[in-house]
Amino acid sequence: MVSMTVRPAIPDLDVDPFSDESLRDPYEYQRRLRDAGPVVHIPAYGIYAMGRFSDVQATFKDWDHFISSQGVGIEDVRKKFWRTPSLLLETDPPAHTDFRKVMGKVISPGAVRELRERFSAEAEQLVDELLDRGSFDAITEVAQRYPLMVFPRAVGLRPGGREELLAYGAISFNALGPENEHRTKALAMAGPVSKWVEDSCRREELLPEGFGASIWAAADRGELDPSLAPLLTRSLLSAGIDTTVTAIGNALYAFASHPDQWAMMHEDPHRVRVAFNEVLRWESPVQSFFRTTAEAATVGDVAVPPDVKVLLSIGSANRDERKWGPDAHVFDVRRQSGGHVAFGSGIHLCVGQPIARMEAEIVLGELAKRVARIELTAEPVANFNNLLKSWHSVPVRVTPA
Ligand code: HEM
Repeated sequence: MVSMTVRPAIPDLDVDPFSDESLRDPYEYQRRLRDAGPVVHIPAYGIYAMGRFSDVQATFKDWDHFISSQGVGIEDVRKKFWRTPSLLLETDPPAHTDFRKVMGKVISPGAVRELRERFSAEAEQLVDELLDRGSFDAITEVAQRYPLMVFPRAVGLRPGGREELLAYGAISFNALGPENEHRTKALAMAGPVSKWVEDSCRREELLPEGFGASIWAAADRGELDPSLAPLLTRSLLSAGIDTTVTAIGNALYAFASHPDQWAMMHEDPHRVRVAFNEVLRWESPVQSFFRTTAEAATVGDVAVPPDVKVLLSIGSANRDERKWGPDAHVFDVRRQSGGHVAFGSGIHLCVGQPIARMEAEIVLGELAKRVARIELTAEPVANFNNLLKSWHSVPVRVTPA
């Protein structure tokens, strides 16, 4: 007798993860995604999607079946893409392993530690000024300003370029989504912004100290083909700014809209590490990344066809009741949120995570020490980006301790 494994069919789900409604408030569509099964098919885009924590995490780790070299957005980067694919994000082993080794050394714990003093001094100065002002927009004045004060210099960029750096991040993430208004608008400004970024990553433009110079030093040691050094440096600028801007902005929105949670932070600013994890879980800056099935693959006992795009919903996984309990939608800084997938998982796990954490923990920690109350003074305004969940403006008032 021939035995056959009967695999459950993949249901169609009528949702649009990239409509303005879903981008502004993704949580309802994500609940439907989780409840429909481990994997769904979204006919509107001809893609597959998953939203349960255990499946999303396992798929991030299964780089063999779910590959990145065809792009981590909805489009197949081999057919059409707006820029040369990334050496890290958009590659598979063995090439990925080599580039990742170089970047891992560049962003070493020692290199990150050396930045701490300067990052702290900049945060102190910024908070002095914010306390003098009392009321400000938490997005432009903290979430954008602080990372732009510290990070480009850490890479070795010369002062200036605020507009280009913010635009480059927004373009990079919008371009991973479908051909909607957000992507079209972003790509319309891609030409001059990309040129600015490319020029800034040239050896002669970089300061002698910084992550960019360390990438060139690796090339000098023969660890990297010198022609690829600018491209590897570019990864820091596409992935390292909008992400931290979004994370810090989401944190300030979370606290300004939950005064009781800020009171706990103010009482014990050492809580900041755990609290930032809860922010990343509750409102994950990067809401999704895609993979492509290299061959037929399974998720649990469901078979996914070969050569299809699969959306991994990070935002959904981080609010999955199966993992976090029935109150998964509640923002609670006492929760043990470690283990979330806001930085991904597996071989592509965010390489900039230690810097992102340091930036956020320093600036939020400084505010927690010196600000007794933070409150909204007007309705926050959402920002629309195909892959990020972020705010355009969060007007706040702070009361000094
Ligand atoms: C809170 C802020 C950040 C978040 C939420 C975040 C999120 C992520 C996620 C989810 C991935 C996995 C991508 C995948 O699996 O396809 C990733 C990878 C990556 N991130 Fe971050 N990131 C942040 C900050 C940073 C910073 C500050 C840098 C640079 C210093 C950075 C550089 C990168 C790079 C280069 C990769 C690709 C790694 C690889 O493919 O091996 N990120 N990030």
